[in-house]
Amino acid sequence: MITYTDTIDGIDANQLQGFFQGWPSSPSPQTHLRILAQSDHVLLAIHTETRTIVGFITAISDGILSACIPLLEVLPEYQHRGIGSRLVQTMLERLSALYMVDVVCDANIVPFYQKLGMLPGTAAMLRRPDVTTLNRRR
Ligand SMILES: CC(C)(COP(=O)(O)OP(=O)(O)OC[C@H]1O[C@@H](n2cnc3c(N)ncnc32)[C@H](O)[C@@H]1OP(=O)(O)O)[C@@H](O)C(=O)NCCC(=O)NCCS
Repeated sequence: MITYTDTIDGIDANQLQGFFQGWPSSPSPQTHLRILAQSDHVLLAIHTETRTIVGFITAISDGILSACIPLLEVLPEYQHRGIGSRLVQTMLERLSALYMVDVVCDANIVPFYQKLGMLPGTAAMLRRPDVTTLNRRR
């Protein structure tokens, strides 16, 4: 069974294994936990029996007008069970008072977000795989 929570209270980095697949330089589980802790909003999908995290979503917001969803991932063996949709839907409910919510994603993921009521758009972005903050302790 999968349960959902909006807090990282009681979550250990050991529960965060297998994420950031395919990233050229991926955050460690410890850094992942810090990312969750420092995000304005977070939702976790937890496997009830093993207590492992099988999916997560974060949002960064000014709390007035806008938010963005920088990270959403469901572990491959748990995909296609509705977990990703549930995470996005719940996050969009959390952000429902805001004028704009933006997601930058690969083109093949756009239909996933469209099914959840979002619109396709264009984006500009910058990625720095060699940033020193990625796995720095503080
Ligand atoms: C995108 C993602 C979060 C979806 O999670 P999920 O739990 O499988 O999503 P759901 O089960 O709620 O919905 C699945 C539906 O979304 C669509 N979908 C999901 N992943 C897709 C993908 N990679 N490509 C195209 N469509 C996709 C399909 O319509 C799929 O329907 P199906 O299960 O009948 O095939 C997951 O595929 C993932 O973690 N991908 C890698 C990370 C990523 O791309 N994150 C988005 C960054 S913004």
